[in-house]
Amino acid sequence: MKYRIGISQCSDDIWRDKQNAELRMGAYFHDNVELKFAAAYDRDERQVQQIDSLVNSGIDLLIVAPNQVQTISPAIDRAYDKGIPVIVFERKTNSEKFTAFISADNYEMGRVMGEYIVSRLHGQGHVMEIKGLEGSSPSIERHNGFMDAIKQSPGIQVVASLQGDWTEPTAYETTRQWLANHQDVRVDLVFGANDRTAMGARKAFLPLTSHLSPLFCGIDGLPGENGGIQLVRDSLLDASYIYPTHGDQIIELAVNILEGKPYEKETMLMSALVTSDNAKVLLMESEEIMRQASQLDLLHSKADNYLHKLDTQRIVNWLAIAFIILLVGVLVLFYLYHLRKIALQRERVVNTLWNMQDPSDLPCPGEATAPTTDPINLPCSEEATDSPPTQGESEGVSVSHFITRFKEAVEARLADSDVSVDDLAADMNLSRVQLYRKVKAVTGSSPVELLRTARLNRAYQLLLTTDKSVSEVAYVVGFTAPSYFTKCFKEEYGMVPGDVRK
Ligand code: FRU
Repeated sequence: MKYRIGISQCSDDIWRDKQNAELRMGAYFHDNVELKFAAAYDRDERQVQQIDSLVNSGIDLLIVAPNQVQTISPAIDRAYDKGIPVIVFERKTNSEKFTAFISADNYEMGRVMGEYIVSRLHGQGHVMEIKGLEGSSPSIERHNGFMDAIKQSPGIQVVASLQGDWTEPTAYETTRQWLANHQDVRVDLVFGANDRTAMGARKAFLPLTSHLSPLFCGIDGLPGENGGIQLVRDSLLDASYIYPTHGDQIIELAVNILEGKPYEKETMLMSALVTSDNAKVLLMESEEIMRQASQLDLLHSKADNYLHKLDTQRIVNWLAIAFIILLVGVLVLFYLYHLRKIALQRERVVNTLWNMQDPSDLPCPGEATAPTTDPINLPCSEEATDSPPTQGESEGVSVSHFITRFKEAVEARLADSDVSVDDLAADMNLSRVQLYRKVKAVTGSSPVELLRTARLNRAYQLLLTTDKSVSEVAYVVGFTAPSYFTKCFKEEYGMVPGDVRK
């Protein structure tokens, strides 16, 4: 059985991309896990609708990062109330209706970043804050942690606390507008609630020559191209904070829940400050991890491809086998049909011949089915008429006449054990070859075979109607050895001569 896990991401950005890749990677280790992704692009209504439709599609577990606390919580509650286990990750809900929560500590990150900023500015300076999306829990918590740390230093003044929404364009625009109205305010450092926000603010500051360029700090600390660690190493950001994604760990948690194994209701992920002191090392390490992960990914997709090919091959094999079976079946049927056709043709010839015989030779319908006194025992047919043959029947009549003559010749020679085909032919004023051809053509059997059948038929009649011993009967019908007679009789009737009398 497969576990279907629905993943509802509030946004679509490089942080989510990394996490989705890890979620997929985590699923590689479980054959019984199938993931269904949905992204709400920072829109509440969209995420609510996506959660509902994931639930309706029959998922076994929901993993969700709610865009904003108030707006998304009811949809998560609905899923939970339907008995679907829910893992809330990274952003919080406002209810207790979830199975597990996994995240780094956003308050702590804000607080540590605040402390760093204080020390970076030596306790003196003007700081601007750009918050994340208003109703999302990391924004609220990071802000609270940051303010609590700043409060401790009277020399630090927060000149602005602007509302962002986690995206770079919004941060840029908000900062630009603020700067336009506060040209005379000095800013020493900008704290963006995430790295993209900090970079948006940075862009807004760039064209201003009247301000000394402030320092910029953010949160996320992603590895890779244009990630926070690289931005710190390249001095575009002064500091960042690793906000762990850990998608594979989320899948482990999900599988434990689904399989009824023990799990932590709340998991706090480790995170760390990124500054110019450690950015280089962190980048090297993260690049190594990413390299290995991408190799694993490659390996997996190769294995996937191979399995896919194997599946296709298996289907092709089955189709080929099915086709061969079908073909053999058709051939057998065709062969049987052919045999039947030949048998029917032969029967028709024999019937025709019988119909053409002298009426006096015909047994009446309903007569005994045991071999008749007719030496060449042919099947019964309709009653014959005395009317002379029509023109179309004349050929048939001559065949019939021939058969009658042949039967008479056979009957006359029945007891003669030395009789040969030459003798029969001579009796009928024919050559041996002529007789053979004619008899074979109209009956399908050779004269010798018919002679033998006639002998055995006669023997059957004698056994039935006289007291003669088996040996006597054998001699009477032209067999020289009773044992050979018994063998032939058995072949013809499936019983030994003695059985006829029983
Ligand atoms: C990614 C993101 C991160 C941020 C987090 C907050 O979607 O915006 O940049 O740290 O979400 O939830």
